[in-house]
Amino acid sequence: MSGLEGQPVLVVGATRGIGRAVAEELARRGARVGLTGRDPERVRAVSEALGAWGAVLDVRDRAAVAEVVGRFAREVGLYGLVYNAGISPAFTRAENLGLEVWDEVLAVNLTGAFVAAKAFLQHLSGPGSLVLVGSVLSFRGGARLAAYTAAKAGLWGLTRALALDWADRGVRVNLVAPGWTETEMTEGLRAHPRLGPALLGEIPLGRMAQPKEVARMVAFLLEPENAYVTGGLYAVDGGVSAR
Ligand SMILES: NC(=O)c1ccc[n+]([C@@H]2O[C@H](COP(=O)([O-])OP(=O)(O)OC[C@H]3O[C@@H](n4cnc5c(N)ncnc54)[C@H](OP(=O)(O)O)[C@@H]3O)[C@@H](O)[C@H]2O)c1
Repeated sequence: MSGLEGQPVLVVGATRGIGRAVAEELARRGARVGLTGRDPERVRAVSEALGAWGAVLDVRDRAAVAEVVGRFAREVGLYGLVYNAGISPAFTRAENLGLEVWDEVLAVNLTGAFVAAKAFLQHLSGPGSLVLVGSVLSFRGGARLAAYTAAKAGLWGLTRALALDWADRGVRVNLVAPGWTETEMTEGLRAHPRLGPALLGEIPLGRMAQPKEVARMVAFLLEPENAYVTGGLYAVDGGVSAR
């Protein structure tokens, strides 16, 4: 039996890709899952399929992020939160990257995580576990991905700062750093006749991750019995970071 049985965990950004796989894995372990997404129909369908609590949320709306975390805590309870929302809209040299794209990427990938984390602590009444979804670009350079790389590196800094600030509150904070994963985010790249195979050649295991392989690491970090694990970065990247 999983220690997550009956534990309330909210997954922010969970109607597709890695977030959905996390929600599925947590439901499989018996957690009381809450999930968010931007599309009401998708939120309804996925929460119904998983027997989960659901809320419509765009993380660029800071007040709404805090409100949804508070509502989940009131209606279901609160033990864990996974911040998975992330976008990568621009693949361009830094000098061509517009500030409006920079602002948007930072808002979704980094500021939303900080706002959700603060609301998480505010509504927590016992020990808790917070997992942020970063990237291998949390600790490596990403060419033509300046905003995404800055935001994901920021998440790694945020993870360590929060782990230190909140250790005395019984809150563990960890970062999962996926490598290339088969989701909508990588669809274009995987289909590209030159870049797709070149990319696979750079992954020691020779393939992309499946979302559920990332989800299992997230669940491990949430498990209450892993009580001594905090302030860390856990790569699920097929060996990329070993290079
Ligand atoms: N795929 C990879 O290779 C890879 C590698 C490293 C890290 N990651 C990270 O893993 C996480 C999940 O990515 P994925 O591959 O599963 O991508 P995805 O399929 O494109 O999913 C992106 C997720 O972010 C949410 N999101 C985007 N903008 C949002 C907004 N304004 N408000 C609320 N939610 C928003 C989406 O919610 P909606 O469904 O509501 O749009 C969705 O749940 C991201 O943080 C990404 O950076 C992915």
